[in-house]
Amino acid sequence: MSIMRRLKRALRPLRNVLWAFLGFGYDFSRYVRYAGWRGHADSRKRDYKAVKTYHRLEKCLSFRQRRHGSGWDAAGDFVHLLGRVGADATTLGYHETVGIKVLRDFVERSDGGGQTARQVDEFLQRTSVASLEGGVIDLTADQLLVGRLEDPEKFFLSRHSVRDFRPDPVPRELLHRAVRLAMKTPSVCNRQAWHVYHLDQRASIDRALTLQNGNRGFGHEVPCLLIVTADLRAFDTHGERFQHWIDGGMFAMALVLALHSLGLAACCLNWSRGPGDDLRLRKLVALDGAHTVIMMMAVGYPSEHLKVCYSARRPLDGILTHLDVPT
Ligand SMILES: Cc1cc2nc3c(=O)[nH]c(=O)nc-3n(C[C@H](O)[C@H](O)[C@H](O)COP(=O)(O)O)c2cc1C
Repeated sequence: MSIMRRLKRALRPLRNVLWAFLGFGYDFSRYVRYAGWRGHADSRKRDYKAVKTYHRLEKCLSFRQRRHGSGWDAAGDFVHLLGRVGADATTLGYHETVGIKVLRDFVERSDGGGQTARQVDEFLQRTSVASLEGGVIDLTADQLLVGRLEDPEKFFLSRHSVRDFRPDPVPRELLHRAVRLAMKTPSVCNRQAWHVYHLDQRASIDRALTLQNGNRGFGHEVPCLLIVTADLRAFDTHGERFQHWIDGGMFAMALVLALHSLGLAACCLNWSRGPGDDLRLRKLVALDGAHTVIMMMAVGYPSEHLKVCYSARRPLDGILTHLDVPT
């Protein structure tokens, strides 16, 4: 091995650390610029705050045993938040409207509250905005488990990352159905900060994939490309600085399973890139600046006969540790 190659190899860890440092700086600058820690005038940020707030009321209503007077602080916060905009349908976002319904449910089923209860009451009298969604649902265990899979192994273990697709386009209705299913993904305070970009034209798919480093050998035949992103505006506390990756990753997984359930195949495509490529991608594809790319995803009908990677799984004891010894 030449000296240059040896030197390059020896310096690789250092190079990674330096690039990571640059990446942290980039992520930090995006957080400062886009996250919800400031800018209450931004209607989208306010809407995320609304769900974060009214979800506290939903949780309160769902508890078997409720503390006397609990939840009123959240009710007060919600009214305070909406007090800034006024409560008519033209100014309110989706979650703000749902939140008003939840607030009504909460008031009907709660006692106490003192001064806050009076402020909430005044607010509710001023608004006629109504939503049919939100609140709590009464369920039996049987109802909850009605969708249980007869053979979970058959479903989960038959999913493979597919890199060999039929050229047929993916019907939009089917894609919409998959995205709707994936939207049932849990998210922190139900903020649902996901956004999916859909490309199905050869030229635009090729353009987006030029910067992705894991599609060699099959990218040129991918009939449908998704770019899964998460909206930084939804996250406002310092502890939530990485929450968009978590929520976005969970959504992506649900989407992969939803596609599988509908007879489509997918392959996640990493977006483990540095600031330069991220900025370059944003020049090639019209992404909202506040949306962080979680990953790309190749989607299509699988070829009639295809090979997939075996992708062996580690033994269970390598990833599961029982901390409590059975008594
Ligand atoms: C976030 C993420 C990024 C991935 N990126 C790529 C990629 O760039 N190219 C690729 O061919 N596969 C990619 N994969 C697919 C993995 O290689 C694959 O999921 C893994 O080997 C397990 O195989 P399976 O999905 O068939 O079970 C990615 C998977 C994930 C979850």
